[in-house]
Amino acid sequence: MIILAIDTSCDDTCIAILKIKDLKFKILSNIVSSQVKIHAKYGGVYPTLAKREHQRNLPIVLKKTLKKASPPISKIDLIAVTVGPGLEPCLWTGVNFAKDLSQKWKKPIISVNHIEAHILANWLSPICKNSKTKTLNSKQILNLKFQNSKLFPSVCLIVSGGHTQLILMRGIGNYKILGETRDDAAGECFDKCARILGLGYPGGPAIEKQAEKFKVYGLRSKVRLPRPMIHQKNFDFSFSGLKTAVLYDFKNRPVKVRKSKKYVQEIAAETQQAIIDVLIAKTLRAVKEFKTKSIILGGGVVANNELRKQFKVQSLKFKVKLLVPPKIFCTDNAAMVAMAGYFNYLKGKRKNWENIKVNANLKI
Ligand code: KG4
Ligand code: ZN
Repeated sequence: MIILAIDTSCDDTCIAILKIKDLKFKILSNIVSSQVKIHAKYGGVYPTLAKREHQRNLPIVLKKTLKKASPPISKIDLIAVTVGPGLEPCLWTGVNFAKDLSQKWKKPIISVNHIEAHILANWLSPICKNSKTKTLNSKQILNLKFQNSKLFPSVCLIVSGGHTQLILMRGIGNYKILGETRDDAAGECFDKCARILGLGYPGGPAIEKQAEKFKVYGLRSKVRLPRPMIHQKNFDFSFSGLKTAVLYDFKNRPVKVRKSKKYVQEIAAETQQAIIDVLIAKTLRAVKEFKTKSIILGGGVVANNELRKQFKVQSLKFKVKLLVPPKIFCTDNAAMVAMAGYFNYLKGKRKNWENIKVNANLKI
């Protein structure tokens, strides 16, 4: 089976082609056209601009994707497209483009939830080392018994520029939201703090770079920032207070200090650690409460090295399995959408193209 997938949920125009044979997944092509330079001057994504860029980029990215994979169009079996959650004008460009292709090429189309795609990005690394799986039928694949006993129940933490959610996962397609952010997403907090500190966009990698430099000194940060909601016995998050604390700390420093490299590196390290502390504390609370066998991470913020490292330490301590996608599959991409599209297809979720609609607030 060959799946062509499209994602335009935020500021990246993504198209990928995934081949599935004997339960082995091969990414034939995975193109991401980033709009970072365009949105950098606004310090965040500007939806109408992003929509215009998606419209311009989609045909170009499609051409590149098809050229790289070079499967004739006749070989493509299914089109998968992200319908939400995300920025509504952006989502519509991808969905309308997918619908046009579906009609033109006479291919079935399937809708995908962007959050589920971030979770299933972890399945892009070969899942089927077990040769016995070759003869499984679709129902058995969905049950994935060969992995389920070791993996589920699992707690998934999806952290990106638009989302921060903790999800209890009992199997592919079986999800329950435990908690989410009440205001800013974790990635948004990185982006806004970086803007305050004059570090540019996207803020996550910029803060990480500064924080790494601070670590070289081997010092503990003297700047103390809050860890919002860390002690509350729930699974919700709040990051806007942290951003405000960064703003006040910054504003209250003499100009000379604000401009010093050392201070920027120090507050960047503390911001990063405050976000990681809260994410780890809430995830571990869910591990304990639901006795999960694993932690599954996903979303752009998971590209952060310090976060990956600290989750690894904790997962070893708590003796739970940790699934972390390679960095290129943490940030937005369409390979993960193809993967989610495949599982939706197995579940028989195919719809007629007329019935595919965007839902910017789609829940998993
Ligand atoms: O998943 P993603 O590509 O798009 C959304 O669905 O939002 O996530 C983008 C977010 C941005 O906020 C960016 O600052 C953050 O992920 N990010 C990082 C890192 N790389 C990207 N945050 C922390 N550390 C990083 N290395
Ligand atoms: Zn995303």
